[in-house]
Amino acid sequence: MAPHVCPWWFGYALASPLRRWFQDPRKILTPFVKEGMTVLDVGCGMGFFTLEMARLVGKAGRVIAVDLQDKMLAGLRRRAMKQGLSDRIQTRLCGPDDLGVSDPVDFALSFAVAHEVPDPTSFFRQIAAVLKPGGSLLLVEPKLHVSEEQFRGVVEDAVAAGLKLAEYSGVEVGRNALFKAE
Ligand SMILES: C[S@@+](CC[C@H](N)C(=O)[O-])C[C@H]1O[C@@H](n2cnc3c(N)ncnc32)[C@H](O)[C@@H]1O
Repeated sequence: MAPHVCPWWFGYALASPLRRWFQDPRKILTPFVKEGMTVLDVGCGMGFFTLEMARLVGKAGRVIAVDLQDKMLAGLRRRAMKQGLSDRIQTRLCGPDDLGVSDPVDFALSFAVAHEVPDPTSFFRQIAAVLKPGGSLLLVEPKLHVSEEQFRGVVEDAVAAGLKLAEYSGVEVGRNALFKAE
C-alpha cells in the first residue's frame, strides 16, 4: 500500500507562524545553513523551513524546494513573493520516486517527509547523490507518526543509501538524525 501523503490543505497549518513556538526554524537551521550556500528542502510543503533557509543563504545563495504537490509549491511561492524572497527560491514539482534534482547542494532538509515516500532507500540515494563532499542532511520525523523502532529503520535506509550517520548537537526536535555525504 502506498504511504499516506499529507493533504495539500494541511500545508496551511504547517506553515502557520504558531508552529514557531515549538519548532523554531531559525534555531534548527542556523547550525547548517550559511550565506552563499545552495540548499535543498525536500518535501517543502508551503515553505515553513524554506523561507528561513532563503533568509539564511542570503542574496548570494539559493534554495531548491521540491514537493510532490503543486498546491504546496503554489503556497510557498505566494509566501516567498510576500516576503521578497522569490529570487533565491526555485520550486520544483517532483514525482513520488523521482526528486528531479541534480544540482550539487551543501545541505538538505527532510522534515516530516521520509515516512510519506514509497521507497525510502531510493529517496535517500537521490539526496546522497546531490550532496557535495562534506555536505549534510538533517532528517526529522514526527514522533506522532513514526515510532522509535520505525525511525531506526529509516536511519538504516539512509545508511544503506550511502549516507554516513553523524552526531547531531542541534535543537531537540522530533526524531532526528544528521548525515554527512561520504
Ligand atoms: C508533513 S508535510 C511536511 C512539509 C514540510 N517539510 C514542513 O515540515 O512543513 C510532507 C510533505 O512532503 C511531501 N511529499 C510526500 N511524499 C513526497 C515525495 N515522495 N517526494 C517529495 N515530497 C513528498 C508532501 O506533499 C508534503 O508537502
